[in-house]
Amino acid sequence: MELKEYLEKTALQVDKMINRYFGDTCDDLGKASAHLLMAGGKRLRPAMLLLAADACVKGSSIDVMPAAISLELTHSFTLIHDDIMDEDTVRRGVPTVHTVWDEPTAILAGDVLFASAFEFLCLADAPENAKVRAVSMLARTCIDICEGQHMDMSFETRDDVSEGEYMTMVGKKTGALYAAAAGIGGILAGGKPTYIDALYHYGYGIGMAFQVQDDIIDLMASKEISGKDQASDLREGKQTLINIKAREKGIDLSPYRKELTPEEIDEVIALLRKEGVIDEVQAISRDLVDSGITRIGILPDSPEKQLLLSMGSHFITRSY
Ligand code: IPE
Ligand code: IPE
Ligand code: MG
Ligand code: MG
Ligand code: MG
Repeated sequence: MELKEYLEKTALQVDKMINRYFGDTCDDLGKASAHLLMAGGKRLRPAMLLLAADACVKGSSIDVMPAAISLELTHSFTLIHDDIMDEDTVRRGVPTVHTVWDEPTAILAGDVLFASAFEFLCLADAPENAKVRAVSMLARTCIDICEGQHMDMSFETRDDVSEGEYMTMVGKKTGALYAAAAGIGGILAGGKPTYIDALYHYGYGIGMAFQVQDDIIDLMASKEISGKDQASDLREGKQTLINIKAREKGIDLSPYRKELTPEEIDEVIALLRKEGVIDEVQAISRDLVDSGITRIGILPDSPEKQLLLSMGSHFITRSY
């Protein structure tokens, strides 16, 4: 099966399960919690968890479906809070939770999904000791994400962030959740410890590349394509790899730290392309993918392993 086909099939299964559990909430906080969850999304973290499970023990993905949902709940919780922090108005093509409701409700809606994630993880059909390890991994991951998000926010007041600091930040805010998706899939399936370790590091590496591509998409893709505010990173003064590489070439992006017109966005894109910034950033994300996918070389060959391998290139060639 092609990756595209697999991802479409899995997204449908995830959507169905989410609709079943979150679709008919009547109270206001329940509606706010379901708003983003029900607005779709690529559902890539559930897909990675299910593939990792099947790559370890064929046929185990069916038992770990609630864990796949758990990863999507965790992800959606971070998105609701991230949109407050980044002052964004659109996500998954719909208005963000804090703009439809208000910030206190959005904080609580995120908290509801955060707690629900652990509830769902415990519903997986797996041995108790495996579930304890999975819960522990998810809890540690949530701390990593908070640390990564804290770094992301604190970088907004600096203009000397290094590439190394950027890598630590994206590892924590984005790599860690993909690492947990692959690692938890392996743990719950009963995979060998060496496979679980390999899957975790694979997820971490290609998850970092995923964030580098997200930074490119933030600049390049219109709201209609990405479903998110365009050039939000420039507006907020984010220290992305694009920003860091531009600075190395003597390009100052700080004048663009404001609400930008489409013409101004096009102007920045043209400048960054001309100076080779985009090419350099893409070469770095390719290296991250290459080293990430070598980690799972030790897994026995299977169609699921092949799909995990192709997920790497997909992460850095996607346009939304
Ligand atoms: C967005 O994640 C947040 C990042 C970690 C960059 P996705 O691009 O996976 O968002 P959805 O789930 O498809 O909306
Ligand atoms: C945030 O990164 C990743 C999270 C952990 C939520 P971004 O702030 O770049 O994510 P988007 O672009 O808003 O989805
Ligand atoms: Mg954001
Ligand atoms: Mg952010
Ligand atoms: Mg982004």
